[in-house]
Amino acid sequence: MIAFLMAALLQIAPSPGEEPVAPYVQSDANAGATPFGDRTTWQAFHEEAGVARIVDGLVTRNVADPRISDIFKGQDLVRLRRTLKEQFCYILAGGCHYSGRDMRSAHADMGVQDADMAALVENLQAAMREEGVNFAAQNRLLAKLAPMRRDVVKIRSSQGIR
Ligand code: HEM
Repeated sequence: MIAFLMAALLQIAPSPGEEPVAPYVQSDANAGATPFGDRTTWQAFHEEAGVARIVDGLVTRNVADPRISDIFKGQDLVRLRRTLKEQFCYILAGGCHYSGRDMRSAHADMGVQDADMAALVENLQAAMREEGVNFAAQNRLLAKLAPMRRDVVKIRSSQGIR
């Protein structure tokens, strides 16, 4: 019973430097994609250090991007960086667990549009290019992220690809 209570408390206690969030059930399934079967793509991303640089580059670009910067204002960027690193590491078969919320809950009420998603993907491509990730590996990660659009984007353009 005490162990159970401790586990429940740990789950809702924020990591250092982060804001608390409403309780949710943690699961790798929240990452929204299954991991690759081998470590080829993980290695192409230069493993943990490379993924950390890519996520930091992505978040920095998003915050500075006038097309989408408003959406990131006032958000917990410490948590966003941590959970994005976990999510990418999990999907790239780097051996991490994802402790964040599912994509639908994380982006609820944000009003993300198709054009915002396109801008974020461009910023991710720039961050991956800067890290020197080969094009085929970049596209393998993007293919894992693409189906998440249905949970992230709330306002779809009439010509949006479904
Ligand atoms: C496939 C595309 C995307 C992925 C994989 C993704 C991933 C994530 C993750 C892992 C989180 C943190 C979850 C948590 O706190 O538990 C998050 C939060 C967030 N995402 Fe995304 N995201 C995507 C698209 C977008 C887009 C297009 C935007 C806006 C342009 C966006 C804006 C945000 C913001 C502002 C937060 C912080 C929410 C908060 O702290 O309450 N995301 N995203």
